[in-house]
Amino acid sequence: MSSNAEEFQTALKTALPILQGMKKNLRRAPKATQASLQRLQAILPASFESTGKVAPAALKSVAVAPLVLTSEDDGRLAKLEILNRKILDCTHCAHLVSSRTQVVFGVGNPFAELLFVGEAPGEEEDLQGEPFIGKAGQLLTKIISAMEYTREEIFIANVLKCRPDMPVGESGNRKPKPAEMATCLPWLKQQIELIKPKVIVALGLTAVEGLLGEPQTMRDVRGKWLDYNGVPLMPTYHPAYLLRNQTLAEKRKVWEDMLLVLEKLGRPISGKQRSYFLEKV
Ligand code: URA
Repeated sequence: MSSNAEEFQTALKTALPILQGMKKNLRRAPKATQASLQRLQAILPASFESTGKVAPAALKSVAVAPLVLTSEDDGRLAKLEILNRKILDCTHCAHLVSSRTQVVFGVGNPFAELLFVGEAPGEEEDLQGEPFIGKAGQLLTKIISAMEYTREEIFIANVLKCRPDMPVGESGNRKPKPAEMATCLPWLKQQIELIKPKVIVALGLTAVEGLLGEPQTMRDVRGKWLDYNGVPLMPTYHPAYLLRNQTLAEKRKVWEDMLLVLEKLGRPISGKQRSYFLEKV
């Protein structure tokens, strides 16, 4: 067997338990980048498609470009998996432990250059175990697409990993309390340390406050670069705010913040992207 194939097998042995753990805990299949899938396809035998199995000797000895799990992984997948388990087992806030359906760890690419931080899971997120999947989440997904990213390429997390409890018989969501945020923040801090994003976007004042530990006003911070432990932090409106204020002017403000983020990340910006939401402003 070529050294590429051996390297591949070693990587698979290391990766499979991690991926299986992620699948179990995140309740969804782990995703791979297109580049990683192409690398896998290059080495898998044709029989894999029908059988779903690979005999070690059948691995093709093609020149496999550096594998994502060997050369790109600096150990963070395993560390994130350990952190994931700790967060899922967290019992720091007894009242949230008893009211939550599940802990919402976060979702996305462990190597993401861009991290979106929201405030806390809502009802849908609590039920499904994934952040930003309700109405506000769907709007966030549109913003991410307009930035020419997918949800799988970036990472999305919340300051609070549990849904804030509601009084019996009341629906809706409440804001996390400062003490809850202070208790939960170390989890987000560790996620950020492992993922090492180049830019963080804080969605709404609660997220800014959770990250920085001090109350702020939107007027002071929106659209301005702040700093979170050396990582550029861009505060913008929460998508739920945009759902309540659907004017072009408000949408444009968020979009201008996202243009600053794209510039900071050195991403190409098309003329079309530059002019989104400008029509009637
Ligand atoms: N709002 C948030 O801040 N986070 C979510 O995950 C969902 C809605």
